[in-house]
Amino acid sequence: MRIDIITIFPEMIEGFFNCSIMKRAQTKGLAEIHLHNLRDWTTDKHRRVDDYPFGGTAGMVMKVEPVDRCITSLKAERDYDEVIFLTPDGEQFNQPMANTLSLATNVIMLCGHFKGIDYRIREHFITKEISIGDYVLTGGELAAAVVADSIVRIIPGVISDEQSALSDSFQDNLLAPPVYTRPAEYKGWRVPDILLSGHEAKIRDWELQQALERTRALRPDLLGE
Ligand code: ADE
Repeated sequence: MRIDIITIFPEMIEGFFNCSIMKRAQTKGLAEIHLHNLRDWTTDKHRRVDDYPFGGTAGMVMKVEPVDRCITSLKAERDYDEVIFLTPDGEQFNQPMANTLSLATNVIMLCGHFKGIDYRIREHFITKEISIGDYVLTGGELAAAVVADSIVRIIPGVISDEQSALSDSFQDNLLAPPVYTRPAEYKGWRVPDILLSGHEAKIRDWELQQALERTRALRPDLLGE
């Protein structure tokens, strides 16, 4: 999978993609992340990518031209499955969306800034608008990093034990059960006996019950309750 991220602050997320599992996915050739500085695509001599809004409202608006030039040049090289705009008024991101997006071959992510983006970009280029939650960030960069992380980590082969991605919270609309590691007792705090029992079937059943209990207590909406 190839992800092209268009941003005015590539340095904000560069380090993120050069660490840990995101880095490993790229080293293994399973994901390519390309960061594009939008300012490289303006013809303005001051490299400005924003301007005052028509109609006199407050704040600045991202201009059409640099975004058009950048996206058009990317699309001339290859077909894209989605051109995503990260915006607080987009569709709320969730695990099923991550699962679907992880099947894509090429994706563009456009990070918004300022008051918003000239609406013509949304009308003519954007195929999907995504919000990562009901709060407003200073820009779309962290949202793009969140979405990219969640889709890259479930590409087969990225996480060595594929099972561990499949048993994530939300993969089956359940929160994950508690997990423990050695020592079995620490300061008198004991790991549940069942996990030390060696009874595989009983352990899986205990995990399911725990997952159901936690989901009912913390996220009853996932169970339709
Ligand atoms: N840009 C600013 N806030 C955002 C949010 N909540 N989700 C996606 N993009 C954003």
